[in-house]
Formats: sequence, C-alpha cells, structure tokens
Amino acid sequence: MSIKLGVNIDHIATIREARKVREPDPIAAAVIAELAGCHCITAHLRGDRRHIQDRDIRLLRGMITTHLNMRIAPTPEMVQFAIDVQPDMVTLVPENNAEVTTEGGLNVAAKLDELARIVATLKNNDVKVCVFVDAETDQIKAAKKCGADFVELNTFNFASAYDMGNSNEVEKELSALKDMTLLANKYGIRVNAGHGLNYRNVEEIASIPNIEELHIGHSIIARAALVGLDRAVKEMLEAIKL
Ligand code: PXP
Repeated sequence: MSIKLGVNIDHIATIREARKVREPDPIAAAVIAELAGCHCITAHLRGDRRHIQDRDIRLLRGMITTHLNMRIAPTPEMVQFAIDVQPDMVTLVPENNAEVTTEGGLNVAAKLDELARIVATLKNNDVKVCVFVDAETDQIKAAKKCGADFVELNTFNFASAYDMGNSNEVEKELSALKDMTLLANKYGIRVNAGHGLNYRNVEEIASIPNIEELHIGHSIIARAALVGLDRAVKEMLEAIKL
C-alpha cells in the first residue's frame, strides 16, 4: 500500500483573507489539488476564522470527490458544525489564537474524559475521528482509551531537526514516530502524520511502514505560489512515492 497525500488548503484562504475579497478561492484550489492526484483535502476551521470560513467547509463538502478531513479544536461550536457538515473525518487539534500555526499535539492524556465524550459524539454521528498527538506512549494509549479511529502523529520536531541538519535529533524523532506507529497499530488505531513536512524532508516520513496519509499544507501552497498548484501537488506526490 503506498502512502497517500492530504493537501491542506488553509493558506489559499490566508491569501484571500489578507484582502477580505473572493479570491483566491480554496474551493478552486481543492479541485485543482484533487485533479493533480491528491487523496484528501484538509481544511482547518479555526475559532478566529483567520483563513477558512464556514462557507468554505460547506462548499468543500459538496465539491470534493476524495475525502474531506476537517481540522477543528475540540469545542462544542466546532463539534456541532462538523456534525452538521459531515466531513469524512475530523482531526482534533489544540488551538490558541496567539499561535502562528498549531504548536504541538493535543494532550489527550490530560483531557481523556472530555475527549472521549467528543469522540463518541462525532462517531455516533458517522464522522470518523483522528487526534493530532505528539509521538509519545501516553498519548497513543490515551488515543486508544478515548476511542479515536486515527492518530495524526506530529512531525514538527522531526521536520525542524531535519531542516537544521541535526542528525541526532532526526534519528531520535524518527525512531519515536516509528515506535508510536507500531504501538497505535497494535491498539487497532490507524496512523496519519504531518506538520512541517516539505519537499526535502518528506521522504524519511513517507518511508515509515503503516503511516497511511501525510497531511501537508504550507510547503505545497508556498511552492504553488511560484510554480502553480497542479505542479506543486504532483511534485509532492512524486516525493512521497516509495
Ligand atoms: N497537521 C496538523 C494537525 C496541523 O495543524 C498542520 C498545520 O496546519 C498540518 C498538519 C500541516 O502543517 P504544514 O502546514 O506545516 O504542512
């Protein structure tokens, strides 16, 4: 089974929101990314609506033909919105309005009861649930306890170490990601990964057995600004092909 690519289109909306106008439209971007061969579209509806808007999620639900991964913070407002819109999957992430991007995995272990209730609510409404976690044993165990279908392993520390040329840290992070993939699978949890991945560092992660899908945003959209989205997505698909 070869690894799949989920394209996160938030930063198309970031450009649009810089001017509060209608273009570029993330819906058009999602269609182009799908035509280029990606396997999933991810969009993060943040509480502060800094990029993706409610309308985007609703239109994406109607338009895309692969699958829609809606990323949200585990708040009652967002859970209700997801239930209304019915994405194929929700990925739960921590969120604070001061952050530039997601700053780390969700501390599932620390909020187990609350998250277990949210996961059950979403699953009872036919939405698969993924939790974005750091590659730590306690978090994988907690993901199992709270009933998540998937974990998305946070690759940010790996990506930073790789880009700084810190090979000791790279090895440490890779081995944690491999071990936690195995542990999650042992518990019957499927594994995705993402955050900070780019054309240079992605191969190491793409070659970890049993990671099903990589979720990549910034590097693809940044490249798309220069070479076009079709080419940027195809080049990433090429980069993750084993
Ligand atoms: N996965 C999660 C949970 C994220 O919060 C982000 C950041 O938007 C990504 C993946 C994608 O990260 P990047 O934009 O660095 O590719």
